[in-house]
Amino acid sequence: MILNVLSSSFLVTVSVAALTVTAAETPLSPAAAFFPSPWADGGGEWAEAYAKARAFVANLTVTEKVNLTTGTGWEADRCIGMTGSVPRLGFRGFCLEDGPLGVRYTDHNSAFPAGINVAATFSRDLMRRRGEAMGEEFNGKGIDVQLGPVAGPLGRVPQGGRNWEGFSPDPYLTGVAMAETVRGIQSRGVIACAKHYILNEQEHYRNRMDVQIDDRTMHELYLWPFADAVRAGVGSVMCSYNKIHGDYACENGWTNNYLLKNELNFQGFVMSDWGAQHTTLGSALGGLDMAMPGDGGRPPYGALWGGALTEAVLKGEVPQWRLDDMVVRIMAAYYKVRTGNYTTRPEINFSAWTKYAVGPLYSASNQTYTVVNEFVDVQAGHGKLIREIGAKSVVLLKNENSILPLKRPASIAVIGEDAQDTPGGPNACPERNCTKGTLAMGYGSGTADYPYLISPATAVKLQAASDNTVFTNISGNWDLDAAKATASNASVAIVFVMAHAGENFITIDGNAGDRNNLTLWNGGDELIKAVASVNPNTIVVLHTVGPVIIEYAKQHPNISAILWAGLPGQETGNGLVDVLYGKVNPQGRSPFTWGKSVEDYGAKLTFQASNPLAPSQTFNEGIFIDYRYFDKAGIEPTYSFGSGLSYTSFSYLDINVLVQSPTTYTAASGLTSPAPTYGTLDRTAAANMAPAGFKRISPYVYPWLVNNSSLFAVNGTSISPTAGVNGTAQPLLPAGGAPGGNPGLYDVIYTVSAVIKNTGKLAGTEIPQLYVQLGGKDNAFGVLRGFDEVALEANEQKTVTFNLTRRDISNWNSSSQNWEITNKEKFVFIGSSALAIRLNSTLPAPPALNW
Ligand code: NOJ
Repeated sequence: MILNVLSSSFLVTVSVAALTVTAAETPLSPAAAFFPSPWADGGGEWAEAYAKARAFVANLTVTEKVNLTTGTGWEADRCIGMTGSVPRLGFRGFCLEDGPLGVRYTDHNSAFPAGINVAATFSRDLMRRRGEAMGEEFNGKGIDVQLGPVAGPLGRVPQGGRNWEGFSPDPYLTGVAMAETVRGIQSRGVIACAKHYILNEQEHYRNRMDVQIDDRTMHELYLWPFADAVRAGVGSVMCSYNKIHGDYACENGWTNNYLLKNELNFQGFVMSDWGAQHTTLGSALGGLDMAMPGDGGRPPYGALWGGALTEAVLKGEVPQWRLDDMVVRIMAAYYKVRTGNYTTRPEINFSAWTKYAVGPLYSASNQTYTVVNEFVDVQAGHGKLIREIGAKSVVLLKNENSILPLKRPASIAVIGEDAQDTPGGPNACPERNCTKGTLAMGYGSGTADYPYLISPATAVKLQAASDNTVFTNISGNWDLDAAKATASNASVAIVFVMAHAGENFITIDGNAGDRNNLTLWNGGDELIKAVASVNPNTIVVLHTVGPVIIEYAKQHPNISAILWAGLPGQETGNGLVDVLYGKVNPQGRSPFTWGKSVEDYGAKLTFQASNPLAPSQTFNEGIFIDYRYFDKAGIEPTYSFGSGLSYTSFSYLDINVLVQSPTTYTAASGLTSPAPTYGTLDRTAAANMAPAGFKRISPYVYPWLVNNSSLFAVNGTSISPTAGVNGTAQPLLPAGGAPGGNPGLYDVIYTVSAVIKNTGKLAGTEIPQLYVQLGGKDNAFGVLRGFDEVALEANEQKTVTFNLTRRDISNWNSSSQNWEITNKEKFVFIGSSALAIRLNSTLPAPPALNW
């Protein structure tokens, strides 16, 4: 590997203390500045959807509106979350279903590669096609909202249990993956949900962790990929369980009102994570638009919204405009995706709560038995795409003596439980809550059941049969003598190992969601060492949720190849065989850094809070996570972010920087319109109470008042006006103005090009990566700001171009609350990983700083 060309001047070793920023210094405005919750303007590409939504909502009564904002309760209906409906207009409630890699809790669906794998392809095309295919499957099951993709956790700490559901600790890569996935899903009539917003970076204490963060880190790191999702038109955002600066994410004026709805101009709706809503008024005024799963509140409503929200609106504690804004946002998201070939809304044809055909329509009440599962097959041949992503996400980390691709070896030993079919079938462990058989997804709500699972052992065995290769298979991890005996007789020994993680409602082997350490599970490290001690052609395949410590394997002379295969989904074995045998030339690049110890990563997961009832965490490392931290602290990783080998080789030539002539950056200014309302507030009992004789299904959540004695005297002014109920025109924020933020942020300032040449003998795909050094000691040596997927025949060369936008070369300025291009000297690097920089150039200073 070529070392970072700027190492001598920029790769400085600093002590951890020197990296510390004090979150308390953050110049955040007083809380009043975060209220009221912005009403959507419905402009731009949302205009048509808003016109329809406003017309629809203007025709609704208060309780009909409330019904669309509130879940009917846990397991109350057929989907993991479902809102109430508007029967008068024949409008069924919204069906929400997990998760980010496929439809959870049903059958005849596909199990796609996890987010972390599609990130490893560095392929916009595959990100988009995976989104489209998933969207098609959700639509086919009658689902309105897919609960994914994930940009939070981003991956502050490598042990974070749910990092694999998302993409990468790099915000640029995650942002691209978010945008492509959102566009893909929504092109198929399904609303995507960008989750978990925001700073839910670990599973321990997730329900009450209070995160302190500085404004700059928020913008440059954690908010960044959400901005991309918003710019891509995402219809919903899920607020997370944790607190930020003392307030829960689902009632947080700063994150919901100020950042998401004002600065990022988000036009869709905010839904709560399941049970992440804590108050009726706080959440309504703090930007929440949909409460999930809806139940869980004091009597008489048994819900924080539902009837309680109707009551609050009639009393004026929640202004009518706020309720209207919630519903208009929800309906606008619906109309935005229900266009083209997808205007017809398929009926819900499954139940998340039973695998049988017949079951209760209202599961929690155990009532109304009928056909709830129609076993609709939505796979549509997606296995092919899954295999392609599986193969193209394999990261070849080590390949000595060209051991790979395999060429009809005389004999192969496959060793390890991680290569095997799961005893009892691929779904034997609900939500993947075990470590049996091969690992192809993490555990928790981010799972989907497999339609089938092609294990590596099965796939290698098939290939071996067609090559006349002798195939042996050791299926356990613990009998090291047997493993050694088998390995020592084989021309090639492939050891399969894993590391699992997931959501904290499941604990496996003492790991409560987050990983306790970065070692392999089930004795994987000992198994590798045992096999490598006897076979000089040992190949290690890693099915892990993120980095593991493998420095010893990198150094081991008998370990000839290491491949990270991640969590590839149902076609895991086939995709891997494609790479092992050279049917696919590997193009995967590591979406994270491989440290030599957990300490190498700097930021720490809080396993044991000093105050467990009120745990708090300060993100002191600022923007320095993953590769940015390794470089700043002078730590050499085992393998760097972006690294991965090919069976061919590439050269990089001729960097060229073209200065574009964008228009001047103009801070957004002026005022919004005053808050609009749609329809009238009818205070009569008839309009707000259940119709006479209505038979309730307990514990279903309803929007009606239960008692009318005290309500109708109140005239909408019973509480003093606060910032939260103020519906007058509000100032726009300078960095705002359109979905994703100020449109000027996306103007192209520089176009950087280079020539990539395939210098080897095989066709292959290179992933050139562009990093920008924003200048000065507060910035990382480089931040990823571009990548491409360049397919090249042997000897072929192509020119790649990268457009750098204003946002790409700006820093966040907390005082001006805007992005700015600083006057510090800036550099651009192009390389094949964060550490293998091949070309570099300065970026010529822009003629004017607000350029
Ligand atoms: C909680 C999880 O955090 C979220 O990701 C999921 O969508 C909901 N449960 C619903 O299952």
